[in-house]
Amino acid sequence: MGRNQQVLIVDSDVDHRAQVKQTLGTLEYAVVGEATYGIEASRLAGELRPEIVLVHVEEPLALAFRTLEVVQAASPRSTVVVISQRDDAATAHKAMLAGARGYIVSPASPNRIDQVLRAARTRHADAVDRIMNPVPEGEAAPTAGFVVTVFGPKGGVGKTTLATNLGITLARRTRARVVVVDTDAYFGDVALTMGIQPERTIADLLAQVELGQRPDVKSYLVQHPSGVWVLPARHAGGVHAPPDADAIAGLIRSLATTFDFVIVDTPGAFGPSVAAALDESTTALLVTSADMASVKDARIALDSLREEGFEDDRLKLVVNHATNANSITDEDIARTVRCDVFWTIPHDREVPLSTQRGEPLVIASPRAQMARRVEALAALLSGSTEPDEADNRSVLGGLFRRGR
Ligand SMILES: Nc1ncnc2c1ncn2[C@@H]1O[C@H](COP(=O)(O)OP(=O)(O)OP(=O)(O)O)[C@@H](O)[C@H]1O
Ligand SMILES: [Mg+2]
Repeated sequence: MGRNQQVLIVDSDVDHRAQVKQTLGTLEYAVVGEATYGIEASRLAGELRPEIVLVHVEEPLALAFRTLEVVQAASPRSTVVVISQRDDAATAHKAMLAGARGYIVSPASPNRIDQVLRAARTRHADAVDRIMNPVPEGEAAPTAGFVVTVFGPKGGVGKTTLATNLGITLARRTRARVVVVDTDAYFGDVALTMGIQPERTIADLLAQVELGQRPDVKSYLVQHPSGVWVLPARHAGGVHAPPDADAIAGLIRSLATTFDFVIVDTPGAFGPSVAAALDESTTALLVTSADMASVKDARIALDSLREEGFEDDRLKLVVNHATNANSITDEDIARTVRCDVFWTIPHDREVPLSTQRGEPLVIASPRAQMARRVEALAALLSGSTEPDEADNRSVLGGLFRRGR
């Protein structure tokens, strides 16, 4: 029995959380806090320093694994244990590599839960004792935000449309702090798409960095009426050198220390700054439209990312039906790209109009099908999936089955 050891539950699924809490109560563990993934989990772990942090690992896996890391950074003496409906060895192995000391396949009997928690706690306590110089607790500022990079090697496939609508939705439906970063420093149109007139831009900021300055990033951000923050670019005449990849990486990392979600929009061409953004990403949404040229480019991008060792977990294929002249199906796309389609966004003729007006569709016409698909994607990414959205997912062949 737990003899009132303190447990923090990290779980974005409210029902599952309640079940686990109830079971832990009967086992004489004291549930001292509950959190969703990311900054909240990291903050509570740092504040409460519980003996055990029990993390429910589900899709999107990259966010869950990132949470395992940030929780440990915030409270290195807490023993992290994973509970998951996924009973495959690969996920368990990855969880252990990410620092979990135990893995519980859910549903599990109270006895089994107690057994795993106790074994994990013993193993961890031994390991901590052996460390001569323990990490000073809570000293480092962990980069706990989720970085979602929207990319695609082809121009005009809907990257900016997705990044802006997603950012707005996340800011409006969660209490998360969200920033959309336009890394297309000289040709980006996030500001235009959102009806923002930028005074200072990412190009100005990066110019300061190049001069060896340490600019105050916040003073370059603009807040959109929806609550989302934007680091804008502005169409600039002339030919410019692409922004420095290290500076882009540093910028994203720094934003991830204060924002829960950093949504990164990227230019059409695949260059070093896109690679840097991808490296910093928790999740990378590879956007393609449903035409052969775009799909082939997506395949090339994906192949080269895989060759470089970019993990499939972090990579999600999004098919945006940016035009209604689609000649191929999602199944064809999945086969050609050799990657399951993670999400589809339907064609909607209201989108170009909303782009021109500077009023993204989730605001201009939230009931539109396209807006609802973006809403559902935001819900999935933020871990607040609702029943009707779960139905949506099953249409896609159970790719996102939570095993319930
Ligand atoms: N689902 C959709 N339905 C209809 N039109 C769309 C859809 N998604 C995007 N569009 C339209 O397609 C055009 C290109 O979209 P967007 O600017 O988002 O693409 P992009 O990938 O960011 O392009 P670039 O590579 O130039 O940055 C815009 O006019 C936009 O309104
Ligand atoms: Mg764009």
